[in-house]
Parts: sequence; C-alpha cells; structure tokens
Amino acid sequence: MSGVFITFEGIDGAGKSSHVQSLADEFRAQGRSVTVTREPGGTPLAEKLRTLALNDAMDGLTEALVMFAARRDHLMQVIEPALARGDVVLCDRFTDATFAYQGGGREFDWDVLVQLERAVQAVPASPLREPDMTLLFEIDPQIAAQRLSGARVPDKFESQPAEFFARVASGYDRRARESAGRFARINGDQPREAVWRDVVAAVRAKGWLK
Ligand code: TYD
Repeated sequence: MSGVFITFEGIDGAGKSSHVQSLADEFRAQGRSVTVTREPGGTPLAEKLRTLALNDAMDGLTEALVMFAARRDHLMQVIEPALARGDVVLCDRFTDATFAYQGGGREFDWDVLVQLERAVQAVPASPLREPDMTLLFEIDPQIAAQRLSGARVPDKFESQPAEFFARVASGYDRRARESAGRFARINGDQPREAVWRDVVAAVRAKGWLK
C-alpha cells in the first residue's frame, strides 16, 4: 500500500486536534498503519524548536526559519520514512500553518515562504513533498477565541488579538484557493459529531477509507 499524507489546519480554537486521533482510530480499524504527529514538533530536535517558537519573541523571518528548520528535521526523520513504509501519516499542522500564521498573521513576505517551502520540502522521494490532503477546519475567529478563553494558559500565538486570527484565517483561505484540489474545507462551527461526519466524508471521497 502506498503512503498517504493528511494534514489538519485551522486557527487556534477551530477544534481540529480531537479529529486527528479519531481519524487514526478509523484508519487502524481498517487495517492501516498510522503515524500521528504534529508541527512544529514530531522529533526531539523539532520539539525543542517548538518550545522556542511558541514562547520566545522573534522577528518574522526568524520565526519562519525556526518553523521550517523544525519541519525539515520532522520530514527527514519521521514523515518520509513513514510514507516509504506505506503508513497513513496524520499531521496536526504543516506548511499551510506557516503561510497562515507567519504569512497572514505576522504579514511576513509570502514569496520568501514559497522559496523556503521549495527548499525544505525537496526530499529524495519527491521534488516537493506536499500533503495528499489538507483538512481545513474553518470557524469565525470570534467564536474560536471564546472557545479558547479560560481553557488553559495561552501560548504566544493564542494570546494574539482577534485581528491577528482574522489575518491567519485569510492566509489559510489564500492557500486553499491556490491549491484547491488538495484542500477539504470543514465547517468547524457545528456540533462535534457533525464535524466528524464531514471529516470522514472528505477522506472517503478520496477513496482512502471504506
Ligand atoms: P497547536 O497546533 O494549536 O497546538 P496546541 O493545540 O498544543 O496549542 O499550536 C501550535 C501553534 O503554532 C499554533 O498557534 C500555530 C503556530 N504555528 C505557526 O505559527 N507556524 C507554523 O508553521 C506551525 C506549524 C504552527
């Protein structure tokens, strides 16, 4: 069986993370081997970079480079070997988050991110490793902020104002329009069961789940 690479995206509070584990269970129940991972992170080095990226103040280019450095290590150590084994790889955030948060939220140069993406995601098996599918959980930034408030101590991004998340959402929207075939847009402003139904339907439509 050939590997399948699926990523989960959305603004903080969109509710994507609980569906990562549910989809892993669903694939395993159908006999697939699954690697569940996340960004920034997924390797010991990338988890150290995550701690820096989510806590320390840095300028836009530094932040983008830290995200892409973590991504390169994660790709080489975890994602590429898993895809080569034929695993389903479920990754909680990937490069679209860099375009949305650093490009949209921080207003860092989109074209530089395109160049970094090309360099970092060139791997032995592919000139540009990209997800086979990206599930984009969409929700009004005001509702997402209400969901997050009081839930836990916010990190550097979660404590940003609503305008930041409006820019993040438009960054995601731009990516989704630029790669329409890769994206499945999921309405995150529904009861969890309805969101889950939409997730399963989107993956079934690709023929990866019965
Ligand atoms: P998140 O995935 O929401 O994890 P948790 O649910 O544990 O908070 O947190 C990661 C944060 O990092 C999130 O606010 C988005 C941000 N981020 C970027 O700014 N750029 C990136 O490239 C990635 C992968 C994440």
